[in-house]
Amino acid sequence: MAGRPRSGIVGAGFIGEVHARAVRAAGGVLAAVAGPSAESSAAAATRLLAERAAPSGEELVEADDVDVVHICTPNHLHAPLAERALAAGKHVICEKPLSTDVAGAQRLADLAGAAPVVAAVPFVYRFYPTVRDARGRVRRGDLGSMRLIHGSYLQDWLSRTEDRNWRTDAALGGGSRAFGDIGVHWCDVVEFATGHRITRLVARLMSVPRGADRSGPGTEDAATVLFETDQGALGCVIVSQVSPGRKNRLWFSLDGARASLQFDQELPDSLWVGGREHNILVQRGAESSTDDAARYNIVPVGHPQGYVDCFTAFVADVYAATAGEPPDGLPTFDDGLRAAVITDAVLASAASSGWVTVPRTHINRETSTGPAPR
Ligand SMILES: NC(=O)c1ccc[n+]([C@@H]2O[C@H](COP(=O)([O-])OP(=O)(O)OC[C@H]3O[C@@H](n4cnc5c(N)ncnc54)[C@H](O)[C@@H]3O)[C@@H](O)[C@H]2O)c1
Repeated sequence: MAGRPRSGIVGAGFIGEVHARAVRAAGGVLAAVAGPSAESSAAAATRLLAERAAPSGEELVEADDVDVVHICTPNHLHAPLAERALAAGKHVICEKPLSTDVAGAQRLADLAGAAPVVAAVPFVYRFYPTVRDARGRVRRGDLGSMRLIHGSYLQDWLSRTEDRNWRTDAALGGGSRAFGDIGVHWCDVVEFATGHRITRLVARLMSVPRGADRSGPGTEDAATVLFETDQGALGCVIVSQVSPGRKNRLWFSLDGARASLQFDQELPDSLWVGGREHNILVQRGAESSTDDAARYNIVPVGHPQGYVDCFTAFVADVYAATAGEPPDGLPTFDDGLRAAVITDAVLASAASSGWVTVPRTHINRETSTGPAPR
């Protein structure tokens, strides 16, 4: 890939616009945009300042003027578009969930694992400098052995019974809504920060009655999940899209033998560090921050950094990976499969009212002509 990376975006809603900003800020060219019709593509290309409007997502993912395909459509369209893009030899950024079921996510992860391309999933909370700092402190041993991992991801945008979105239709969004939509972000960021893997869990789901005109089978509005990890920690998380006043409260606490760490994405410029003698708020960019955090610290603290900056850092790391320099911590299709497997375990546990083992994931990285580049 010579020159600036050329990105094409399929789906120009909320997150498609965020991707478009990130493409430009990360030094890429927004080559093409596709909506569900030629008319909507044209309007989106004008709004997002793309070089051209693609006639369809299918055309865009195979187009010669696109190096990196961004799939930002409703969930049920991710797998077919991603598979087509991989078959065309494109680098792919596919929004979560990779697929609405585990089999589809496994297939995509295997295809990506056997292809010499970058295949990434925007688990962007990994890109907060304070999250990197939390991970660095855990790795440095500041916390001692990890005992408890707990927290929540709470939103309120579906809290009224008349609230509707394509996500409330399982045919478009998948069998899990609140957990599959935002719970997977929580699990990804805490597994990333701690290095622990959730091995067993028990889940309960809650749904708010939405009236007779609700389309499709119901999906959950909230989930509570109790879990164990491979390194002996116990944890729990509450996920909700019906908690009034909570907007994007992704919060977690990592409680070790010597210290605890707390991150709150609504106040992401500091990390709370708790001890027996005193508690401190470590500011982003503090001298005590670990090296892992410094790479993502782009403006002096006091000038807030946020979610959109995480997206820029993520896309910049994807571009670095396409140039043969994959940065540490880039979330890939392997992580997308992991999210699908945890979501499936949550649904299975809720259905059986019992503990469920979260299976280990395995990616087939063999091509018919031999091992693929790793
Ligand atoms: N990583 C994150 O932090 C994050 C945040 C929000 C959303 N998402 C994911 O992004 C995806 C989109 O979510 P959203 O909030 O932007 O939804 P949205 O409804 O705002 O946007 C979806 C867009 O896709 C378009 N679309 C529908 N069918 C299409 C087709 N066949 N071809 C092209 N475009 C089509 C719609 O017109 C709409 O503009 C979801 O899968 C969601 O899980 C991820």
